[in-house]
Amino acid sequence: MSAPENLPGTIRRLAPADAAGYRTLMLDAYATHPSAFTTTVDERAGLPLRWWEERLGADDAGEAGVVYGAFNDTGALVGVAGLSFETRQRARHKATLFGMAVAASARRAGFGHRLVLAVLAHARAIERLRLVQLTVTEGNHTAQALYERCGFRVFGVEPLAIAVEGDMLAKVHMWCDLGARPR
Ligand SMILES: CC(C)(COP(=O)(O)OP(=O)(O)OC[C@H]1O[C@@H](n2cnc3c(N)ncnc32)[C@H](O)[C@@H]1OP(=O)(O)O)[C@@H](O)C(=O)NCCC(=O)NCCS
Repeated sequence: MSAPENLPGTIRRLAPADAAGYRTLMLDAYATHPSAFTTTVDERAGLPLRWWEERLGADDAGEAGVVYGAFNDTGALVGVAGLSFETRQRARHKATLFGMAVAASARRAGFGHRLVLAVLAHARAIERLRLVQLTVTEGNHTAQALYERCGFRVFGVEPLAIAVEGDMLAKVHMWCDLGARPR
């Protein structure tokens, strides 16, 4: 998906060739925002580039999911958001938005918003999908407000969801009804 002419940069689905940039962006996000993610930088830093390539090389609706990237006007990858899929028969109508991050230097320019909309557009194009869900750490107001602007609604709060540097943090669970009118 290309950006409309009045917006900077480009949003498109990432391919295995983008793996090195994807790895760098995510490791930086895990390291600088530990409370925003369930995954730690240590869990991912030791994985080979091949692991990131495989994540970006999955089938359209395979379990591993798809990842969209935001590129600035110089072609640098500055943001990502992923979508993974349930494969069990009774849950195949659900997908999960995961791994959302925009580089600090590119924030507040609308890349996050455009990434979430790109992921939702991908989900809407898959006929069997009825909803997208996600979790956001309680207190991450920027991310939660962004998701709300894109049509997500809170349906619950999971207490003691992640342990981050000695603190137990709650996760807000949100969902977006793909059957509802797009905003
Ligand atoms: C959450 C995150 C992905 C948002 O990315 P982003 O590209 O800055 O998102 P947007 O620019 O679309 O919107 C963010 C804010 O910028 C504002 N904004 C957007 N375009 C703007 C512009 N041209 N000028 C000024 N502000 C602008 C939005 O209104 C929004 O404001 P708010 O925070 O007061 O609500 C980013 O802050 C991030 O990576 N955070 C760390 C990791 C994280 O928390 N990930 C989410 C895990 S659930």
